[in-house]
Amino acid sequence: MSSSKDVDALSEVEARKELARLAMEIAYHDARYHKEDAPEISDADYDALRRRNEAIEARFPNLVRKDSPSLKVGAALKSGFGKIRHVKPMLSLGNAFNDEDVAEFLTRVRRFLGLSDSEELAILAEPKIDGLSASLRYENGELVYAATRGDGSEGEDVTANMRTLEDVPVTLTGAPAVLEVRGEVYMRKDDFFALNERQAAAGAKTFANPRNAAAGSLRQLDPSITKQRPLRFFGYAWGDLSEPLAPTQAEARERLRSLGFSLNHPTALCRTVEEVLAHYRMIGTQRAELPFDIDGVVYKVDRLDWQERLGQVSRAPRWAIAHKFAAEKAETVIEEITVQVGRTGALTPVANLKPVTVGGVVVSRATLHNQDEIERLGVKEGDTVRIQRAGDVIPQVLEVVKDGGGPPYRFPAACPVCGSDVERDDGEVVWRCTGGLICEAQAVERLKHFVSRDAFDIEGLGTKSIEEFWTESLIRQPADIFRLSDHRDALIGREGWKEKSVTNLLNAIEARREIPLDRFIYALGIRHIGQTTAKLLARSYGGFEAWRTAMTAVAEERKGNPDEHKKPELIGPAYAELTGIDTVGMTAADSLAAFFGAAHNVDVLSSLAAMLTITDVEAPVAGDSAIAGKTVVFTGTLEKMSRGEAKARAEALGAKVSGSVSKKTDFVIVGADAGSKAKKATELGVKTLSEDEWLDLANASAGDGSEASN
Ligand code: IVH
Repeated sequence: MSSSKDVDALSEVEARKELARLAMEIAYHDARYHKEDAPEISDADYDALRRRNEAIEARFPNLVRKDSPSLKVGAALKSGFGKIRHVKPMLSLGNAFNDEDVAEFLTRVRRFLGLSDSEELAILAEPKIDGLSASLRYENGELVYAATRGDGSEGEDVTANMRTLEDVPVTLTGAPAVLEVRGEVYMRKDDFFALNERQAAAGAKTFANPRNAAAGSLRQLDPSITKQRPLRFFGYAWGDLSEPLAPTQAEARERLRSLGFSLNHPTALCRTVEEVLAHYRMIGTQRAELPFDIDGVVYKVDRLDWQERLGQVSRAPRWAIAHKFAAEKAETVIEEITVQVGRTGALTPVANLKPVTVGGVVVSRATLHNQDEIERLGVKEGDTVRIQRAGDVIPQVLEVVKDGGGPPYRFPAACPVCGSDVERDDGEVVWRCTGGLICEAQAVERLKHFVSRDAFDIEGLGTKSIEEFWTESLIRQPADIFRLSDHRDALIGREGWKEKSVTNLLNAIEARREIPLDRFIYALGIRHIGQTTAKLLARSYGGFEAWRTAMTAVAEERKGNPDEHKKPELIGPAYAELTGIDTVGMTAADSLAAFFGAAHNVDVLSSLAAMLTITDVEAPVAGDSAIAGKTVVFTGTLEKMSRGEAKARAEALGAKVSGSVSKKTDFVIVGADAGSKAKKATELGVKTLSEDEWLDLANASAGDGSEASN
C-alpha cells in the first residue's frame, strides 16, 4: 500500500508524518466500512494499515496521536438510529495469520495462566462469520433491546429491526434474569444472490457481498424493509449476565441453543496446536460449500473461569484469537488500466480484468494501489496477471505471469475527474488531485468536513443531507450553504423535510454566519491543517484578513522558490514567519502555499468570506490551575472515559499530554492494567494519580476559571 518504508528505518519526523497519514487513512476506511457498508480496500490491506500503525507506535510511544486508530474500535455511528451504551463493551478479536501466530497464542495463554506442560488447555474452534455483530438484551426472558457494535462502547438501537429476524427469539424460557446474547447478523450466500437479483430487477441497489447486504439490510430505518430481507443470526458470545451460563464455552453454546438460538458450525474442541490447525484446515476445505461466508476460524479458551482471568488487552480479549484465511488466487488478463479519484483526492489505479472466478466469485476489477506498485509489478494493459481475493471486495494484482507486449503504462499527470494538477509529497507514493473543492470526486467529502462538529458544526446538515443537496446541485461549494435560504420553498415538502425542520436548518446555518477564525481555517479542509494547526494559525495571525494576506504572500514566495529542500528563510519572509510558528513545519506550509496558489481555492474562499463574519482569536490566558502548563501521561485502561476524551479534557485545561514518561512529566494517570509507564513514573519519582484522583483535580481546575481558551 502507500508508504512502505520499514518501520525500523523511520526517523522520528517520518514516523510522525506516517502516523498522521495512517490515522487519516484508517479513519477513512473505517467510515467506508462501518458507516457506508462500502469498503474500498481488502480486510488484509486494512489489517496491514493497522499493524503498521501499531508497529510505529510501539517504536515511538511518544508519538501516539489523540486520534490514533489503536485507541478506538470500529467507527462512530451513522445517524438515524438511537444510541445504546453497552453495559459491557463489545470487543473485537486479535488476528493470527499463520501457524506460528496460533502457536504463540496458545503459549501466551499458557504462560498467562501459569499452566504446566502437562495441564490440558481445551480450545473451542468455531468459524468466524463474515457479518456484523449485534447484542441482544433480555430481561426476565423478554427481549428489551438489540444494538449493533458501533464503536464497541456505544452501538445503534436496532431493536425493531432485529425483532423481525426469525433467528431472534422475542421471549426466552429458563434464561437468566439478565442475559445479553451476542453474535453475528449475516446473510446466507444463496439468499444474498437471490436478493441481488430481486434488487437488480427492481432497479434498486445491489450489494457487493453478503456482509454488505446484511449490514445494509439491518440498518434500514424502516423495519418492514428489514423484515423482507433474509437476515439470520448466530449466537456465539454474551455480555451482561445475572448468573453464569455454564462452566465452559462449549456448554454455554449448548445453553444458548436450548434457549432457542442458532449456533455457528462446525466447531471442535481441540487440545493441542496440531488439533487446532487440523480443524482450521478442515474448515478451510469446506469453506466454499458452507452456506454462509466465513473469513477465518476463531479459537476460544473453553474454560470460562480462565477466560475471566485472561481478561482483555485494549480492544480484544486475551482468551480468543481469529485465525484468518489466506487469500484465493486466479489468473486473468488486464484489459485496461483506469484511475479512480477517491474522496480524499487520492488517485488509485485500477486494473479492469477479463472476468474470472476466484473462490466462487466473479472478479472483473483489481486494485493496483498506486504508481509505485504498477512499476514494482511492471504491469501493462494486455498482460496476464495473477490476482488474489481475500474474502473481501476489491482483489489485488500479485504479479505478471505473461507479458502482453503492450507499451509501458503512463500514470496520468492530471486528475481524470476534474483535470486539475496532481501532486505527491516527498516520500509518499500516492498522487493526489489538487482540485479540492472543485473536484467532483472530493467535493462531497470536503463539504461533509466543512459542516462537521469541529468545523462549522451545522446542526441538521448531516452527511445524508449534504449528499442529497449535492446531487440536486443545491450545494456545490461551501458558500452555497449560506445561500440555502434562497431555496426555502424548494426545500419544504421534499422527502423528510417539513416546514419546521427547514426553518430549524436555516436558523442553524444563520447561527454560523459568525465563526471563530480557527474553526474557519480548519473547516477549509486543507491537507495537513488539522485542528491544532488551525488554532496555532488563528492565534498567530490574529484575524482573517491578516491570515489571508500572509498566506497569499506565502503562496507567491513558494511559487518563486519551488525547491523542496530550500531553507524557509531563503524562500521568503512570509514563508519563514509561517514555519517559525510552533510546530508548523514545511509540510503544512507547503500545503497552505498550494491551497492559496490555486485560483479555484482563492475564489471559493473569497465568496465564502464575503458571507461570513470571521471573528478574531484571542491569545490564550495563562492558566494558573493545578493542570495548566503541566505535562501529563495517561497509561492503562481508563474506566470513566476514553483515552481520547481524557486527553482532550486535559488539553482543554491547558495541559500538555505526552505519550512517554520522563523527568519532565508532572503527573502520570494510572488506569487499570497499567504497565511499564507506571513503573517508570515510580522510578523517576514522578507523581502518579488514580483515575479518580485525576478527575477530582480536573474538575477542580475546570471550576477555578482558569480554563485555557480554545
Ligand atoms: S467472539 C470477545 N466468535 O469477529 C470476542 N466473534 O473480528 C467476541 N465474529 O466483532 C467475538 N464470528 O463480529 C466471535 N465465532 C465468532 C465470530 C466472531 C465472527 C466477529 C465479531 C467480532 C469480530 C472480530
